[in-house]
Amino acid sequence: TDDPGRVVARSDEIADGEMLDVRVEGLDIALYRVGGRLYATAGICTHGRAMLTDGWLEDGVIECPLHGGRFEVRDGSCLGPPVDEPLTTYPVTEHDGEIRVTTR
Ligand code: FES
Repeated sequence: TDDPGRVVARSDEIADGEMLDVRVEGLDIALYRVGGRLYATAGICTHGRAMLTDGWLEDGVIECPLHGGRFEVRDGSCLGPPVDEPLTTYPVTEHDGEIRVTTR
């Protein structure tokens, strides 16, 4: 679609190697900047009620703070137990200092 998405944050709110939790149309979404690129996934772990931005981001992998489940932020894939369900990912764009996420 041509849906440009919603503005969810400003570019200067998320430095390289950092993450930011935002709410978009009732959804918890985690933004990550890795190697200068932005990624967006569901903000809640697929294994339990844990906020992924409370965990650790390293080399493009987010580790859940609760039981250590790990996911690739670029495609949401899970990297082994205890998580067995990937994260939903969302298209994210950045233009003129604005970060937009498309949820549909
Ligand atoms: Fe994330 Fe269990 S809640 S690994």
